[in-house]
Amino acid sequence: MKPEYLQAAVETAQEAGKILLQEFDRPPNITYKGEADLVTQADRRSEQAIVERLRRWFPEHAIVAEEGTGHDNSGQLRWYVDPLDGTTNFAHGYPCFAVSIGLAEGDSVLAGVVFNPVSNELFAAARGEGATLNGKKISVSAIDTLKTSLLATGFPAHKRVQSPNIHYYWDFTLRSHGVRRDGSAALDLASVAAGRFEGFWEFGLNPWDTAAGIVLIEEAGGRVSDFGVQPYRFGAREILASNGKVHAEMQELAAEIAKKVEKK
Ligand code: IPD
Ligand code: CA
Ligand code: CA
Repeated sequence: MKPEYLQAAVETAQEAGKILLQEFDRPPNITYKGEADLVTQADRRSEQAIVERLRRWFPEHAIVAEEGTGHDNSGQLRWYVDPLDGTTNFAHGYPCFAVSIGLAEGDSVLAGVVFNPVSNELFAAARGEGATLNGKKISVSAIDTLKTSLLATGFPAHKRVQSPNIHYYWDFTLRSHGVRRDGSAALDLASVAAGRFEGFWEFGLNPWDTAAGIVLIEEAGGRVSDFGVQPYRFGAREILASNGKVHAEMQELAAEIAKKVEKK
């Protein structure tokens, strides 16, 4: 991978982060994509700046952006852009949100950046080159039991009643140090890479939520899969990510919960 790709993602995420901070100082301008699925002017302005910059720099690359202003083509290299991950937090003035930008070639994520403009934390990774937080190498935690793990998850904004996740939340909470639900999947994944959380799972995510986080975790020494034994297929909506050491325990518990949920 060309080093300028990661640098471009870093600079683009920083520019978008500035826009988010400007907008965070103003009363939110909210519209709805669904019953509890919010979108704000910040999502749109951030996406516009990101897409404009990536198109200018890499006209031959495709761009998949959450708010729909991407640029499809047959290019092998494809950017996945979440211009504001954590919109609900943002709209309520809860300062936990990020810009997430990943670059994939087919199913392999080559580079990713997650930027939290409030804490000024920039997580970056390139395939084969490790993961960093504000330029310093990061790695997943050494904790190797579920019962001493801190975990994270999230709940979908769409079809909320159909999500089985409340059952997983319940059981994982009772079997660990706790499960955080911070409202930004990109930051949750980055926190696994940085060793703050041992594991994360969610149902119903999109590739713009996970692309950057996947390469961050893998480059920090962690593991990403689905709930079964299969390796993670990029774009799958169900994801289980961990420091690797508690992965099997998380998968076993997830399988037990799935059986209980089926019987209900
Ligand atoms: C959402 C956040 C949240 C997760 C939802 C996502 P958005 O993204 O990542 O943590 O639980 O599933 O949709 O809508 O704020 O970009
Ligand atoms: Ca998102
Ligand atoms: Ca978003």
